[in-house]
Amino acid sequence: MNFRNDCLGSARVRVLAMAPSPSRTFFHHEREQKEEEVLMIYLDYNATTPLCDAAREAMLPYLNRHFGNPSSIHAAGRAARAAIDDARDKLAALLHAKPGEIIFTGGATESCNLGVLGLARCASSRGGHIISNKAEHHAVLNAVEHLENREGFEVTWLNVSKTGMLDLDQLANSIRPETKLVSIMTANNETGVIQPMREISQICRDRGVLLHSDVVQAFGKLDIDVSLVDAGSFAAHKFYGPKGTGFLFLRSGLPIEPIMFGGAHENQRRPGTENVAGVAGMAAAAEWVLHDADAERQRQAQLRNDFWTRIEKVFADTQQNGDPAHRLANTLNVSFIGVDSETMLMALDLEGVCASSGSACMVGSVRASHVLLAMGLPMESARSAIRFSLGRRTTAEEIANAADALERIAKRTKEAREYALA
Ligand SMILES: Cc1ncc(COP(=O)(O)O)c(C=O)c1O
Repeated sequence: MNFRNDCLGSARVRVLAMAPSPSRTFFHHEREQKEEEVLMIYLDYNATTPLCDAAREAMLPYLNRHFGNPSSIHAAGRAARAAIDDARDKLAALLHAKPGEIIFTGGATESCNLGVLGLARCASSRGGHIISNKAEHHAVLNAVEHLENREGFEVTWLNVSKTGMLDLDQLANSIRPETKLVSIMTANNETGVIQPMREISQICRDRGVLLHSDVVQAFGKLDIDVSLVDAGSFAAHKFYGPKGTGFLFLRSGLPIEPIMFGGAHENQRRPGTENVAGVAGMAAAAEWVLHDADAERQRQAQLRNDFWTRIEKVFADTQQNGDPAHRLANTLNVSFIGVDSETMLMALDLEGVCASSGSACMVGSVRASHVLLAMGLPMESARSAIRFSLGRRTTAEEIANAADALERIAKRTKEAREYALA
């Protein structure tokens, strides 16, 4: 089966565009809203991915006929319960884990919060020591900061190098007898930098410290070995499943303190009626995304590298951010020195190219990325960074068109500078 064509169709997508009527100039305020065919080049797969057909098909019965509450004991409830059980079995099998090790949540933020807060708070006495790093996603960063500022925990924030890698000696030396938890992401959402989880796991195991990892960006893009961690956070919409659905892998036998209160769902670890359709879609997407994953990785890496080669030729002052040898195959983070991220994102958007200045959660406030600043990049580089992230639908034609768009932007930027200096 051709998996790219299976779910995602062509690069041309129908979008509702605000298009000027032919008789009006671009500057007219009045515009007609009409549906038209526009060429959108989506290079923001780390923000979210489109739903694959397999997920959509798996979800539909639970949005229609099988709408029951999985906690109900009647036939409608039992049908919904069967879907939850089936999804749990599938996900566990894919991860070589046990079904009871999967806790369904409302997405990655909740999974990370449950992993960090639930494990840290679990020990009998309040307070203690936690280790994390400043380049984590805010789902972990802010949970750890909450423990630090409001619950009497002491936190060691590890440094990352200029290329975004952790210093393993610093990690080993930071662990103390009272350390309760280490939380280190497997792959960074902004730079794609991959941390050496095997070594990190060994350091934590040798010292008897729990390890949580935010695996959100890595699943489907890297081989994941959950036996290396005690807890791992996942989100369906990063691997072609639905939004608002995720899970926490929690090693068998580990106690965790719930962060919400209500019913006894998920073995008393996460209350609330399960998102049945979402969970069914997530399991189907997980199976789908792991199919042909190696070949897809190579294909995306090639496209990503071709894109960088074109960018380098066009823009005089650019740099790639993140360790090129330890990076997700789909991610390219580039600083276009002298052009701030917001201006570049708008220029790209006008050209029909969707990219990001970093974490989607920061959209609306294009600030310098905390990840790039943690890597010690000068403000100028951090403020001019753009993240391009490729996915299953990305084609060579799209990459060539996106590079052409950047070439036009570079030309316009140069002309504007010359005009300003004249
Ligand atoms: C690495 C990482 N962790 C956590 C999250 C939070 O995901 P969500 O907003 O789906 O809860 C994201 C989303 O961008 C992410 O990239």
